Amino acid sequence: MKVSKKILNLLHDQIAMEANASNYYLYLSSWCKVNGYEGASSFFQNHSSEEREHMLKIIQYLNDLKINTVIPSVSKPSQNVKSLEQVIKNSLANEQKVTKSIDKIYGVAQNENDHRTSIFLEWFVREQIEEEDLFESILQKFDVIGRDKLALHEIDKHLQKLSQK
Ligand code: FEO
Repeated sequence: MKVSKKILNLLHDQIAMEANASNYYLYLSSWCKVNGYEGASSFFQNHSSEEREHMLKIIQYLNDLKINTVIPSVSKPSQNVKSLEQVIKNSLANEQKVTKSIDKIYGVAQNENDHRTSIFLEWFVREQIEEEDLFESILQKFDVIGRDKLALHEIDKHLQKLSQK
């Protein structure tokens, strides 16, 4: 096999993590829609699709090496969101977990001199810088613009713009 058992297990865990992130962002999109945040709903719908693409990237990497992948079941997200700010905070926390996980696999690949997996993961390392920056910047808006109804409307419009990029 072209990657070690350890790397394979970690990549399988990462496939599941991306699938669960996709599912979680779908839940957030649905919550936003029902609570009147149309822009945020579109933003999270797109983000859910992006996470699925991340999952597919890893599956394709393994399949290109002629390694079978286990397609994971997804877990039911905890449905406990109460505010738009919490939606963004939870998303940032989720991205921070993903970053840790990617960093861990990258570290193992480097220790094993598995250069092809290291190079493959570089895209994810860069992506996580963008993902964390994205959610940190949105979160900052609550301090800058505020948390009253007008401010939340402005933040929702900002998310709408982001979803059109
Ligand atoms: Fe695939 Fe947003 O991490």
